[in-house]
Amino acid sequence: MEMTRDRYETLITNAEIQARVDAIASEITTCYSGTVPIMMPLLRGAFVFAADLARKLDLDVEVDFLGASSYGGATETSGEIRMTLDSSSPLSGRHVLIVEDIVDTGLTLGYIQKLIRSRGVASLRTAVLLDKQCRRKSQVDIDWAGFTIPDRFVFGYGLDGPGGLFRNLPDIMALPAE
Ligand code: PRP
Repeated sequence: MEMTRDRYETLITNAEIQARVDAIASEITTCYSGTVPIMMPLLRGAFVFAADLARKLDLDVEVDFLGASSYGGATETSGEIRMTLDSSSPLSGRHVLIVEDIVDTGLTLGYIQKLIRSRGVASLRTAVLLDKQCRRKSQVDIDWAGFTIPDRFVFGYGLDGPGGLFRNLPDIMALPAE
């Protein structure tokens, strides 16, 4: 189906996102007070959320990156998680904060959490912007969640949309509900 930009619906505005990111950043700042955590955005989708969150933390943090992909442009997960980038820092003994854009089935986050835990970290916590709880197949630990959302195809604010585009849009958008 041909889809034009004006048929996309704004689900969450950037102003609403910023207000939630402020609140989450404040809680994370309190949680890690006195420590130097390492923040690990999961590429590609988390790059915008992580950039906003990092700049609202009143903390000394390190930043490193992980990359994973299972959708590869499809709307249904393949269930096969591929690491596209591993961290460059040793994680043993570190307080690690995973930053993720969306949890859908939970397969990606579950895989990543298991991997990071296996490296002997001092603690592992996870901040997620969007939680599609209704789609969960695998239980995962989430410490901070921005918004619980319905089962809609969402994109923008880092998430890819139709044709692999629209990660750069400032709001969370959705295809029209069926
Ligand atoms: C998306 C998203 C999460 C994952 C969530 O990544 O960024 O990592 O899917 O889905 P799940 O809970 O069903 O595993 P995607 O594979 O599209 O890669 P991307 O981040 O590069 O867009």
